[in-house]
Amino acid sequence: MTFKPAKWPRKLRSQAWYGGTSRDVIYHRGWLKNQGHPHDLFDGRPVIGILNTWSDLTPCNGHLRELAEKVKAGVWEAGGFPVEVPVFSASENTFRPTAMMFRNLAAMSIEEQMRGQPIDGAVLLVGCDKTTPSLLMAAASTDIPSIVVTGGPMLNGYFRGERVGSGTHLWKFSEAVKAGEMTQAEFLEAEASMSRSSGTCNTMGTASTMASMAEALGMALSGNAAIPAVDSRRRVMAQLSGRRIVQMVKDDLKPSDIMTKAAFENAIRTNGAIGGSTNAVIHLLAIAGRVGIDLTLDDWDRCGRGVATIVNLMPSGKYLMEEFFYAGGLPVVLKRLGEAGLLNKEALTVSGGAIWDEVKDVVNWNDDVILPLEKALTQQGGIAVLKGNLAPKGAVLKPSAASEHLLVHRGRAVVFEDIDDYKARIEDDALDIDETCVMVLKNCGPKGYPGMAEVGNMGLPPKVLKKGITDMVRISDARMSGTAYGTVVLHTSPEAAAGGPLAVVKTGDMIELDVPNRRLHLDISDAELAERLAAWKPGHETADSGYAWLHQAHVEGADTGADLGFLKGCRGAPVGKDSH
Ligand code: FES
Repeated sequence: MTFKPAKWPRKLRSQAWYGGTSRDVIYHRGWLKNQGHPHDLFDGRPVIGILNTWSDLTPCNGHLRELAEKVKAGVWEAGGFPVEVPVFSASENTFRPTAMMFRNLAAMSIEEQMRGQPIDGAVLLVGCDKTTPSLLMAAASTDIPSIVVTGGPMLNGYFRGERVGSGTHLWKFSEAVKAGEMTQAEFLEAEASMSRSSGTCNTMGTASTMASMAEALGMALSGNAAIPAVDSRRRVMAQLSGRRIVQMVKDDLKPSDIMTKAAFENAIRTNGAIGGSTNAVIHLLAIAGRVGIDLTLDDWDRCGRGVATIVNLMPSGKYLMEEFFYAGGLPVVLKRLGEAGLLNKEALTVSGGAIWDEVKDVVNWNDDVILPLEKALTQQGGIAVLKGNLAPKGAVLKPSAASEHLLVHRGRAVVFEDIDDYKARIEDDALDIDETCVMVLKNCGPKGYPGMAEVGNMGLPPKVLKKGITDMVRISDARMSGTAYGTVVLHTSPEAAAGGPLAVVKTGDMIELDVPNRRLHLDISDAELAERLAAWKPGHETADSGYAWLHQAHVEGADTGADLGFLKGCRGAPVGKDSH
């Protein structure tokens, strides 16, 4: 890490809109003055776009307008000129068919909002699952100085005295209802306890994972990820980030300076240590693709293998984000990685300094929440990348969320051709299935669903649940919610809708899963597999117009981040021609 700040003062890109006396400048500047801005604000100071993913329909980000005010205060204090800009907000709990289908659309639109407008620096005000990666992808593509401020997690939920984790307990309670262990009325009563404050999911689900990834990448101020949404320190963090981005612009500290290969390696190892979501795999690959870093699934296996999961949070463990914050949050984890030789200590952060300097003196205040190594939830955290004739380009599994006894398993496939087929048959007691079988779900990948929904952790058949069985091996080309758990093989690539081997699995085939040896094998001969693949014909629905068409035509495989191929790479932010 050697970052040399740029010389200041110098002319910034916003001056192409606001600097001088030409007719075009008077046009741009004059319009903005209708908001009551004095003339001297256009004197060349950094214009900071506060890119706000607030939306009434993204409840996880419902408090971001208040946080934006604190960011603005920080920008003013540091001598910048803040402008709040609403951007595409892909809510995980609202968008259909799945928010993931719109991550790339959001990234594409936000990239153009950054490039086409007079922004010298950006505060990425994010929270819900897809909002964090989509804005990081846009920032990476434009390479405009940017800093992440997440909205923070919700407070703990409690139901009848027990902690209730976002998502995690939704799955648990719904399985309990199916198993006859909980009534529907109790389930409804529990609903009110699940989301009792502003903020994102309070488990180490995808939102908390991506907040942690942003911090581990160096794209947020140290300590940002875990502060609860309603804690006053969240607002302080917003204000400090507003101050900081102004200096980042003056120094010309860009995403490409921060998001290096070393930073991605830090993020991957952090994901293992926190027991983070499998969704981080896809998002980090996509962000790396935008910044031009060669990151692969093999990097995930290489860096994540052997990283112990020390954060005792649901879905892998027992606590929630509130306790993680009280224990010291992500800086403690980064310190532990550094002490174990698993952190690229010199990696640069938005602070302008090395990541190690941010964390080396922090203290763990609760070693039941951030565990000592010998008490780790698993010594094999990280993401296992499986390969074999069923997943030539790879598939992923989260060992910390899986059942130990199923990590090596051979079972008879029970195939569901798509999610509708699964829903139609799973509750049928006549379905020929037991707990030794391997559930296979097809056509739920990036092209197939379309959008790659979080349906990979398909619920077990009620007749199996009623025996007290809570886990079976499941394989699909889908994703899984970061709040979910189970021995679930995901992101199988190439996906079924693209003619991957998953497409030709038949009920009754034998499948072998061997996580320690990273193997996923369909037990048929090479000749038979080739014959089946040659006979395969696409059968999934395809759109013939609109964004769904664009997505299906251009989305790439999960193994490379499921981005739209034509959006990969850093295009920078030239100011372009004037409009008049
Ligand atoms: Fe938005 Fe979990 S659904 S953060």
